[in-house]
Amino acid sequence: MLIALGVCGGIGAYKAVEIARGLQNNGHDVVAIMTRSARRFVGPLTFEAITRRRVITSQFAEGANADIEHISLATAASLLVVAPATANIIGKFANGVADDFLSSLYLATKAPVVIAPAMNTNMLEHEAVQHNLASLVARGVHVVEPGAGYLACGWIGKGRLAEPEAVVRAAEAVLHSAGSLKGRKVLVTAGPTYEDLDPVRFISNRSSGKMGYAIATEAATRGGEVVLVTGPTALQPPPAVEVVRVRRAAEMHAVVMHRAPDVDAVIMAAAVADYTPRRTETEKMPKQADGLVLALERTPDILGDLGQWRSTAGRERPLLIGFAAETSAVDAKAREKLRRKKVDLIVANDISREGAGFEVDTNAVTFIDDGTQDFGPAPGRDVPAIRSKREIASELLDRVEAMLARKTQPARG
Ligand code: CTP
Repeated sequence: MLIALGVCGGIGAYKAVEIARGLQNNGHDVVAIMTRSARRFVGPLTFEAITRRRVITSQFAEGANADIEHISLATAASLLVVAPATANIIGKFANGVADDFLSSLYLATKAPVVIAPAMNTNMLEHEAVQHNLASLVARGVHVVEPGAGYLACGWIGKGRLAEPEAVVRAAEAVLHSAGSLKGRKVLVTAGPTYEDLDPVRFISNRSSGKMGYAIATEAATRGGEVVLVTGPTALQPPPAVEVVRVRRAAEMHAVVMHRAPDVDAVIMAAAVADYTPRRTETEKMPKQADGLVLALERTPDILGDLGQWRSTAGRERPLLIGFAAETSAVDAKAREKLRRKKVDLIVANDISREGAGFEVDTNAVTFIDDGTQDFGPAPGRDVPAIRSKREIASELLDRVEAMLARKTQPARG
């Protein structure tokens, strides 16, 4: 998920670097926002190197859309974490002051907020700060209690920024309970299809189903109502997911077309066979002395039919997401698929790369959409990195959530 990490001025600012790293290790993307005083303690380059994203340092930065950046980040971020949170930012949040990027972001976002206060003991105990904290808690803000110990000002007492692991743990707990996909229905397809030749033989492909299962798991973790339409795989289905098992492309087509009108997004991660035997023998075929010629016919293109149905019906929902496994000219072919199949997003991967594609736990993908997404790839991600399938699932669902937030039409429209 995309997490906005606000860093304020305080000796604990250096610990925010560890927090950013911890959140990333859990598969999240982090955008750091540094207040002016934070930059006196740690340089933005440190965060840029860790997050591989531009660090936001002012409300009106360079770039045409900089003035509305806090609005787009406010929509895209699944969580706002502020660590260290000074008495100043706590006061601004509590009183609706929006005089810099971070305080404007707080007002503009509907994402849950976690703050980790850090300040001198007397400041922390001051009635004004306690009052502000209480009003934030009453508004649903989660506070990670500061620790006690030796403070930078020389005092010994309460006010030290909580340990990075505690902040990361709190962020995860809030994310999971917040359920960013609560109330959303997502249909995910996974695995290969088996196209039967006779009772013992079939045509299939190398798909293990791992990518689709990772997406279903992540969507369920986010509180989504998930239907997993799966071809035959050796995988254990994730808990709290409705599993519909299918075998052939034609069966998958029937199930998906039937369920699609009721869901918010269809994610076609299955490697659907493109051809099926013209006839399936009911008896086992005996060996032929001089080879065998198989007559195959095309299977229905599920994603293509979904795109056609949606555009004919004039609907915006469900969102349609396809995968493209290519061995060359990945981006160009994926872009062509996006247009031809009339879908919202193509997750393209170059299966000729080691560690990408079938059977492995990792993948390297590029997200190809119609170009209206607010957040493009992070700097340095032009050549897609090899990442775990769960991490990719997380980024994909971040994008799905952002797209769903932009589209207003309800699922049953
Ligand atoms: N797909 C589908 N139905 C099919 C075949 C594919 O819904 N019969 C979906 C896959 O799940 C995937 C996307 O379409 O999300 C891309 O599949 P791919 O086979 O790579 O694309 P094709 O359009 O079949 O193009 P190509 O000529 O490259 O095979």
